[in-house]
Amino acid sequence: MLTVKDLVDVKGKKVLVRVDFNVPLKSGEIRDDNRIVAALPTIKDLLAKGARVVLFSHLGKVKHKLATEDPEKFAKQIKDGNLAPVAVRLAELLGQPVNFVPETRGEALEKAVADMKDGDVVLVQNTRYEKGEEKNDEELGKYWASLGDAFVMDAFGSAHRAHASTYGIPANLKAAGKPVAMGYLVEKEVANLTKCVDVKDENRPYVAILGGLKVSDKIKVIDSLLGKCDKIIIGGAMAYTFAKALGKQTGDSPVELDQLDYAINCLAKANGKIVLPVDSMIGDNFDPEARTTVTVAEGNIPEGFQGLDIGPKTAALFADEISKAKMIFWNGPMGVFEQEEFQKGTIAVCKAIAALEGKAFTVCGGGDSAAAVKQFGYKESFSHVSTGGGASLEMIENNGHLPGIDVLGD
Ligand code: 3PG
Repeated sequence: MLTVKDLVDVKGKKVLVRVDFNVPLKSGEIRDDNRIVAALPTIKDLLAKGARVVLFSHLGKVKHKLATEDPEKFAKQIKDGNLAPVAVRLAELLGQPVNFVPETRGEALEKAVADMKDGDVVLVQNTRYEKGEEKNDEELGKYWASLGDAFVMDAFGSAHRAHASTYGIPANLKAAGKPVAMGYLVEKEVANLTKCVDVKDENRPYVAILGGLKVSDKIKVIDSLLGKCDKIIIGGAMAYTFAKALGKQTGDSPVELDQLDYAINCLAKANGKIVLPVDSMIGDNFDPEARTTVTVAEGNIPEGFQGLDIGPKTAALFADEISKAKMIFWNGPMGVFEQEEFQKGTIAVCKAIAALEGKAFTVCGGGDSAAAVKQFGYKESFSHVSTGGGASLEMIENNGHLPGIDVLGD
């Protein structure tokens, strides 16, 4: 597979680059520009070689069926998905103008690309404004591919999506004999996450930590990790489904009743590999102003209360398991870390992993846990913090394969 480093002869060439600029925005303000910063090495490398860089990204979700079902909601999605603020931030970070094209096709886009000079940057409007993007529409992939001479995939966070911009463009360019390559970010993500997939003996004990809301979202990754890890620590709301399956009292905690059989089978298959919480911090109201919180042993959550974080004994138990690890993969917070009262469990996991610095290979698999790691100031203590939540989980589930990366190979 080629990487951007191999694309030496790109002076004057139009290089289409798929980036993941799906950044959190509030009232048009970018709240975290990490994903833009992460794509800079690839963009700068191509610009330094005299390429004309045409960037594609999605932003948020656009449900096209709402155009007829709920036009007001659809209009809001379109407004929220406007990539214009990203172009402004990118120009600041690059220190050069970025020509933002507020269209995804047509004369304005074609002219902007045709008028580019060597070292220019064009950012195309949100790819999801196109109905055919998520369906990998054949015509759309072909059309976008027709705008360029080469393709670079640097959107690791979107590499699990076989969409027109992530799959259709490279497939078409490849078929036309044009070069397609991985960008630096994708190369780095693949190198780091591959270690969590093809586990070497020197990286054992390998401990995975999973959290977040739903067992159903994590079934495939749990199944895959059972065959790779030495221990799987389960915290967050998904632990209550396991507790319920074991006949414990879970009060009003979010439990997936249709996953109880899975949880039981999983524990039987795990043969002692799964470590579950032994206590919980619970509250009788989600609203911080109106609730009482207490810590209880697992299995003692009364009606009217729900678990909102792991308790102190669990934090100590998890920290002890983490301290023995030579490799960590973590995805999903331990509690509602957005609220101060329920941050302790997630912070305890951050601290325990940070204490392994220099002694173990530690990966945070993106999404909410990456936001927590950043918020609590532990980012630099990890060997790798992924920019892709869904993508890093799917990479593990699918034994190192993602459609948006596989398409770049032979
Ligand atoms: C992400 O934020 O995980 C990626 O940008 C992918 O977004 P998606 O889940 O909307 O495809």
